[in-house]
Amino acid sequence: MRILVTGGAGFIGSHLVEALVSRGYNVRVVDDLSTGRESNLEAVRDKIEFFKGDIRDPAVMIDAVKGVDVVYHLAAKINVEESYAKPDLYWEVNVLGTRLIVESMVRMGVKRLIFMSSAAVYGDPVYIPIDENHPVNPLNPYGETKLEGEEIIRRSIKRGEIQAVIVRLFNAYGPRQEGNPYAGVVQKFIERVSSGKPPIIFGDGLQSRDFIYVKDVVSGLLYILERVEDSMILNLGTGVETRIIDLARLILDLLGRSDLDPVFSDPRPGDVRRSVADIRRLRGLGWSPQYSLRDGLTDMLGLQVGE
Ligand SMILES: NC(=O)c1ccc[n+]([C@@H]2O[C@H](COP(=O)([O-])OP(=O)(O)OC[C@H]3O[C@@H](n4cnc5c(N)ncnc54)[C@H](O)[C@@H]3O)[C@@H](O)[C@H]2O)c1
Repeated sequence: MRILVTGGAGFIGSHLVEALVSRGYNVRVVDDLSTGRESNLEAVRDKIEFFKGDIRDPAVMIDAVKGVDVVYHLAAKINVEESYAKPDLYWEVNVLGTRLIVESMVRMGVKRLIFMSSAAVYGDPVYIPIDENHPVNPLNPYGETKLEGEEIIRRSIKRGEIQAVIVRLFNAYGPRQEGNPYAGVVQKFIERVSSGKPPIIFGDGLQSRDFIYVKDVVSGLLYILERVEDSMILNLGTGVETRIIDLARLILDLLGRSDLDPVFSDPRPGDVRRSVADIRRLRGLGWSPQYSLRDGLTDMLGLQVGE
């Protein structure tokens, strides 16, 4: 089976590509390396096809989907703050790029799509945990573009053109976010504490997130590929709510720097207050996450479990 991964040189994409290769799939990657790195694919570079190109380019996308059975669409602009500064860029890549991928698939007769959406489409929850029927109300341009991408896919499903799973991912963390100025809070805390500086918390630290280790993200995405045949929306998270202050304390503890006290700064616009996934739908299909936050961080930091 031949699989296209857009954004396959990125943080999550490169972990997914490695897992697909090790399971014997033929993998093609399209990535413009705007935030991704070819070095992320070092371990599998001679086993995959790599197209350096932009998902907004029709010629690139027609070539990329040719002969493919399934498309994982991960390529996107992913930073909330940047999405306020560059709304047009976010619209072009996340919405028009997604539309072009769907159009290219339809034109080339490719039927299956797994689309990486985001918990950002829900906005501030009206109830917790957030299930897939929760109303959508994105609070920032990034979330709006992800929702619009979903709409494009939903319309194509309705027309009977494609079968697609829309994956609403919560907060992923793991190796390969290093050095990315737009990396998530886990990476930022680790970088600060590793260099002897206290973590900076925006707001009071009582805001919460559902942190999922990248290995669990990949296992969820593989599970969907191999076991989910119908079109549907699926949350991908752990179902565990963690406050940012507790994340900071855990990282300080794991890095042996409990002597450092977190620093508090102004809250950021467009940040939701609480976030935790209801993952019963994906659990009901037989998948479950394997890593607690402590286990995931320990694995990420290369520490011995229980040390
Ligand atoms: N990291 C998270 O916590 C998280 C949470 C929810 C959803 N997501 C979604 O997961 C996906 C992967 O995110 P990530 O965290 O690995 O980020 P990432 O920035 O590492 O990955 C995105 C990849 O897309 C590529 N890309 C961007 N614009 C492109 C374009 N125009 N043409 C071709 N390639 C392009 C980048 O070079 C990069 O390799 C994204 O769709 C993101 O919205 C991530």
